[in-house]
Parts: sequence; C-alpha cells; structure tokens
Amino acid sequence: MGTIVTIDGPAASGKSSVSRELASRLGWRWVSTGAFYRGLAYVARELAVDLDSAQVLADLAHSKEWEVLLTSEKTKVLFRGTDVTDKIGLEDVGGIASKISHYPEVREALLGAQRACGAAEAKGLVAEGRDCGTVVFPNAPAKIYLTASSESRAARRAAEEGADPESIIAAQKQRDKQDTTRKAAPLAVPANALVVDTSEMNFEQVVDAVEKFVRGRLSSESQT
Ligand code: DC
Repeated sequence: MGTIVTIDGPAASGKSSVSRELASRLGWRWVSTGAFYRGLAYVARELAVDLDSAQVLADLAHSKEWEVLLTSEKTKVLFRGTDVTDKIGLEDVGGIASKISHYPEVREALLGAQRACGAAEAKGLVAEGRDCGTVVFPNAPAKIYLTASSESRAARRAAEEGADPESIIAAQKQRDKQDTTRKAAPLAVPANALVVDTSEMNFEQVVDAVEKFVRGRLSSESQT
C-alpha cells in the first residue's frame, strides 16, 4: 500500500480539481469518495429503490450492477457497464447522495471499496471527500481541509453547471447542513489537518500551498 493523502471539505470547495492536480504533481492516483455516494444515489434512483431503506441501499452498494473505476482524469461510475460519470455530477444526484450518506449501513457498505483504492496503489493515493481524514484513512500522514465561502462555492458550481448561483446556493446550504450535522461521520476538520480557505485564492495558489504542506509532511515522516 502506498502513502495516502486526504483532502476533505464541503461541496464545491475545489476538492476534486485540487486532488487531481496534486496527484498529478506527485505522480500518484486520486479518488473521489463522493463518487461512491453519488454512484449509489444515481443507481438507486434509476432502479427506483426505496431511499428510506438503509438495508436495501447497503445491499445495492455491494451489487454487481455498478462499479467505480479510478482514472487519472476522473473517478468513473459504470452502471450496467455504461459510463454514467457525467450524470452523477449534477446537484440533484448530489442531494440524494447527501441524504443516503446519513445511514451508517450505507457508509459501512462503501468503506471497504474506498479503502481498497488505497491498498491497490503502490506509490500513493490522494483521497478526497468528507470523512477521508477522519474515518476512511485516519492514519494518513498528511491531511488537508479545503473550505470557501458559500457564495464562492455556489459561483463555482453554477459556472460548472451553467446554472444560476442563486438557485445553487440554497441547495448547497441544505447539503452543507445535512453533511455537517449527520450522526455518522459528519464533515469535520481532521486533527492536524492543514485548513485552506480558497475563497480569495486562485487554483495555482491552492495547489501550491497544498503541495508544499504535503511534501513537508512526507519528508518529516521519512526522517522519523
Ligand atoms: O463531494 P461530493 O459533492 O461529490 O459528495 C456528494 C455527497 O456524498 C456529499 O453531500 C456527502 C456524501 N459524501 C460523504 O458522505 N462522504 C464522503 N467521503 C464523500 C461524500
């Protein structure tokens, strides 16, 4: 198993793009753990399963109907062999993902596959999500927490989706509330994490700050 670096944070804080670029600079792989929740949410909706039944959702998490694949560009989701990665990115699927992520049974069912991504990487893995530093990879030597004002996060997501920021902000605030107040693995800053508020920073500045921190942590690890 290679080294693990975790990047957590709220919706549209830039986790995916920063993780991808950091992984590319380090020559590592990256994984979006949100893709597991989004993939399950999408498949559950397609199959019209009961979104209030934790056990049905947990069983679906283990089903062969869908799978998650890591590539250097994206964490892909295949449903019955068809690539649905573009469809899982939308805010409506994110809302269902946030809802079903409350169930401990669902989280437990997805955890093994998320951890397996780390075990499969010989060099290293950048893992991003909500609980990567707190639950999925609690022993990671370098943890980052990205955040930004709700206005700048909504503007970022609206630009990606070609939508109006006002309509995004309400849905995003609702999702933040769900993610931070849930009982199972709520979104939280991991101990010893570098916290970066990206509201006033450009992409390069964020990745540079994160890379510097990670390289520092890795070199101090190798000296101990
Ligand atoms: O990061 P994202 O927007 O793709 O995540 C979608 C939802 O999945 C998010 O609202 C909460 C859930 N999630 C989670 O509970 N734990 C993770 N590690 C990643 C995502």
